Amino acid sequence: MQYIGIDFGTSNSLASLVKNNKIEFVEYADGSISNPTIIYFPAKSKQISIGTEGIERYLTNLEEGGAGGRLMLSIKTLLPDAKFDYTLVAGHGRWSAEDLVAAFLAKLKTLAEKQFGEPFDGVVLGRPVDFSELAVERLENAAHSAGFKDVIFWLEPVAAAMAYEQTATDDELICVVDLGGGTSDVCVIEVSAARSNSPDRLNDIKAVGGIREAGDELSSKIVQNKLAARFGAGSTFKSLGKTLPFPAHIIHKLSKWHRINLLNNRDDRETIHSILPFSNRPEDVKRLLGLLDHHYGYELFQAIDTAKKRLSEKDSVAIKFSPLELSEPVSVREFEAMIAETVGRIEHSIGDVLAKAGAKPADIKRVILTGGTSQVPMLNRSVIKIFGAEKVLRPDYFSSVATGLGYVASRFNGEKN
Ligand SMILES: Nc1ncnc2c1ncn2[C@@H]1O[C@H](COP(=O)(O)OP(=O)(O)OP(=O)(O)O)[C@@H](O)[C@H]1O
Ligand SMILES: [Mg+2]
Repeated sequence: MQYIGIDFGTSNSLASLVKNNKIEFVEYADGSISNPTIIYFPAKSKQISIGTEGIERYLTNLEEGGAGGRLMLSIKTLLPDAKFDYTLVAGHGRWSAEDLVAAFLAKLKTLAEKQFGEPFDGVVLGRPVDFSELAVERLENAAHSAGFKDVIFWLEPVAAAMAYEQTATDDELICVVDLGGGTSDVCVIEVSAARSNSPDRLNDIKAVGGIREAGDELSSKIVQNKLAARFGAGSTFKSLGKTLPFPAHIIHKLSKWHRINLLNNRDDRETIHSILPFSNRPEDVKRLLGLLDHHYGYELFQAIDTAKKRLSEKDSVAIKFSPLELSEPVSVREFEAMIAETVGRIEHSIGDVLAKAGAKPADIKRVILTGGTSQVPMLNRSVIKIFGAEKVLRPDYFSSVATGLGYVASRFNGEKN
């Protein structure tokens, strides 16, 4: 049986394996090795697509005046969500969390099989440290439905450690800090080139930990603190002689990628329409209706994501979205105030893992800082504050987990890396 490594990420996914002693990545339709973990359900066809291909089809459909279909992001976060049974997708029926993830993994499997010209019946699948039993069970079911007969789970930060250890000469105690889209994962592990061949790493892993908060959470802080007001948060409306606040549950759905389409239901739309004539800020309520009518959810979150990334390099940026006449300035100082609590929890979880490992920062020889959210300067400073700048290594932040998973898959395939 041939195995492939898959880093199924909240934001981006990659698949990899070793061929002729070299790590290789699966290419998506656009030729890149990493694509957003997105599924697209077109309105008028049964043929779903993933990644950038799905986004392009979605945007083309919207431009052509169609309903656009449904674009689903951050599907990994549905796995631990016990309240999520299924979603009804117009023209496509009911989809459980497993179904959605299975559809994505099946597409990735097909791409891999085409590229390498062989079937992959086994998968080495990354998983975050803080993942509930339900999440693991659903992910396993999804991998089986995607056609993988054997599913081997591997902790994502352990995989990142293995990508690094090929270059380690002596035994080294390292700490991996992987800050992604949905989870922040930490691991203290003993590595060396010789150890990398052991079948499992149970003796080497000193402690693991993490929290279910990362880049998506930082984006939703921007929505709550900067944009929600422009969509009606904090406004009031008159009803039967009383002044009432704009409904909090509507604003709540606005703050996350995967919740925004939940607003496009009849009840919420009727509520928003009925508030409009009696609102003290009708322009903002109208903007919210515009967002729903034109299905701008994806593009708005893209604008937020872009602004957030630019804040890693600039002191101040504007979140721009001209179709809804939005241009909201945000400074790094404001952003850091918004995310301070989340950053505090991430620092805390690093401290926890060190304590569990019985290690002091001085005992750690190297820190592998990876994942897209590790680009946020405030988080960089946190890690440097704990360990000291000289120890911190920043590998390719998007591919380090996938590289490690590819190495593990290669052991099962009898390939050397
Ligand atoms: N330059 C940057 N500055 C700030 N954030 C960034 C930057 N580049 C990427 N990000 C954020 O990193 C996150 C994606 O990181 P990554 O691809 O490592 O996540 P993932 O592996 O898909 O998620 P997870 O591991 O949590 O399941 C997104 O939230 C994205 O907005
Ligand atoms: Mg990741």
